[in-house]
Amino acid sequence: MHLTTRAARSFAALLLLLATACTREAPPPAIAPAAFAPDVHSFARPADARVTHVALDLQVDFTTRVLGGRATLTVARRPGVRDLILDTQGLQVRQVLDERRQALVFRLDPAVEHLGQALVITLPAVGDRVVVEYQTSPDAAALQWLTPLQTAGRMHPYLYSQGQAILTRTWIPTQDSPGIRQTFEASITVPSPLRAVMSAEMLTPDGVDAGNGRRAFRFRMDQPVPPYLIAIAVGDIAFKSLGPRTGVYTEPGVLARAADELADLEKMMAAAEALGGPYRWGRYDVLVLPPSFPFGGMENPRLTFATPTILAGDRSLVSLLAHELAHSWSGNLVTNATWGDFWLNEGFTTYFENRIMEVLYGKDRAAMLASLGRSELLREMKTLPPEDTRLVLDLKGRNPDDGVTSVAYEKGAALVHTIEQSVGRDRFDPWLRGYFNRHAFTSITTPQFVVDLKQELVRGDKALADRLDLPAWIEQPGLPASAAPAHSPAFAQVEAEARRFAQGAAASSLQVDGWVPQQWQHFLEELRTAKLSPAQLRDLDATHALSASGNSEILFAWLRVAVARQYATAMPALERFLTTQGRRKFLRPLYEDLMQTAWGQPIARRIYADARGSYHAVSAQTIDAIVK
Ligand code: BES
Ligand code: ZN
Repeated sequence: MHLTTRAARSFAALLLLLATACTREAPPPAIAPAAFAPDVHSFARPADARVTHVALDLQVDFTTRVLGGRATLTVARRPGVRDLILDTQGLQVRQVLDERRQALVFRLDPAVEHLGQALVITLPAVGDRVVVEYQTSPDAAALQWLTPLQTAGRMHPYLYSQGQAILTRTWIPTQDSPGIRQTFEASITVPSPLRAVMSAEMLTPDGVDAGNGRRAFRFRMDQPVPPYLIAIAVGDIAFKSLGPRTGVYTEPGVLARAADELADLEKMMAAAEALGGPYRWGRYDVLVLPPSFPFGGMENPRLTFATPTILAGDRSLVSLLAHELAHSWSGNLVTNATWGDFWLNEGFTTYFENRIMEVLYGKDRAAMLASLGRSELLREMKTLPPEDTRLVLDLKGRNPDDGVTSVAYEKGAALVHTIEQSVGRDRFDPWLRGYFNRHAFTSITTPQFVVDLKQELVRGDKALADRLDLPAWIEQPGLPASAAPAHSPAFAQVEAEARRFAQGAAASSLQVDGWVPQQWQHFLEELRTAKLSPAQLRDLDATHALSASGNSEILFAWLRVAVARQYATAMPALERFLTTQGRRKFLRPLYEDLMQTAWGQPIARRIYADARGSYHAVSAQTIDAIVK
């Protein structure tokens, strides 16, 4: 299938070359009827006309909270096609021009829930470029505009974007499907002394003077990426190198702490390359964002975006960076063609993350992390409708966010792990590396993954196929019986201590010497359903200072125990946590737990009324549905 697509593409390229040679006016480039998987979250019809390159020229205006300027799109189309269909949401389109600056006819179709509006442009008969002059809305969902007080330095405003899954259309008019890869370049003009960074090669790290107290920054991404990976941040951003290919960007006051926490990044790169093959993106830097960033991390190419809640002070939360780094292969190199195939991104990445952690911190730590993930999966599956426990989801009419559950991450990782166990690493590792190479810079569906696995690994081995039972994994809800176990020997003692404590042992009698943070996390997760008394909770917190933990996972796990037992004494710590960071993974369960009881509802409402304005739209939208 791959060969034929490639052959068809080079044939099309040849045709184009001939046609260009024969006529003076270049005709629109022809494209092969490529296999674009239907994407229910995009209006684009890429088999007819698709965007291959985006050139942005944007001004960043902090007073109006608007990005304005133009996007010049290079388009490849089938002969005879006149309509180019883009995805937009909340964009004001001023005009659309061809490359000679002649106005083109366009229309914005009515808005569709979750998807926004199709922008339909009538292409010129000749030429492959259109210029969309536009501006964003101040409440563009991808963008968060922070006031100086919402930053660490409290002096300068800040802007950052979050494109995944379908939010890039709120700031760039393009074909916003993970199956439609595009190269891009950008010129971003910002007020000095701020700096702009993007998920691309930074051509002007310090910017150039653009007059009127402004600086312009230029960027280029020559490797085709899906639009959800186009990302930008603007603020008082400093940089510190960590190694030949790695470094960290963040506000000056956070830089030293961030650099220390991320000291293992080069080592992670080496471990990742040993498994995935050469890193293909040049540099790997991390941008540590202000606390409202709604995710733990986001794998924007060349520049992972990360929450400051990973800065625990003891490098105990760096598995998150192993995860985002792993996406440089699983996700960014080989991308899910649609959001229904999201597990291909996250399941492979969760597996890959664990392999990196094993190399850096040993098998014990890796086993603990895998076990935490598995427990979370088993807990969450009990709360999901069975159809949402399948790996492949039908998300038509739904927000792709509905698919962001531990099923994609942990059931997906369990499948990859099970494949590994069933053939051994000697066979599995070369297949995995081959998988990344065979599909590099493409977007694939789950059936394509299955074909690859059968052709390149199973190769007709009937016993292996039976052992794996792929149909059960791909089609059935729940976790198949063939799943490789995810067990940590170090957790048995933790569970024994949790039982002892629940049955009345004093906190000071617990055998916690040498516990790593993952053991504390597991201990607290075990206690979530225990009927602890206020006296026991007071004893635990007083002895082990949980409310004051600098490890956000431990604090989160503790606060869930406190909420479950309606332990009022911990509510100030809860309020602090909910108002000083905006990571949806932490916010959602805490608000959900609170809203489950008459005791918790007023607490949730009061805190949310105060905190909502500081959350990114991604988090606010989720919590709105819980609290309102
Ligand atoms: N790509 C995801 C974040 C994401 C998923 C954003 C879906 C929007 C829609 C990222 O790689 C991720 O999984 N982040 C996790 C951390 C990870 C260690 C599990 C997070 O943010 O918690
Ligand atoms: Zn991920």
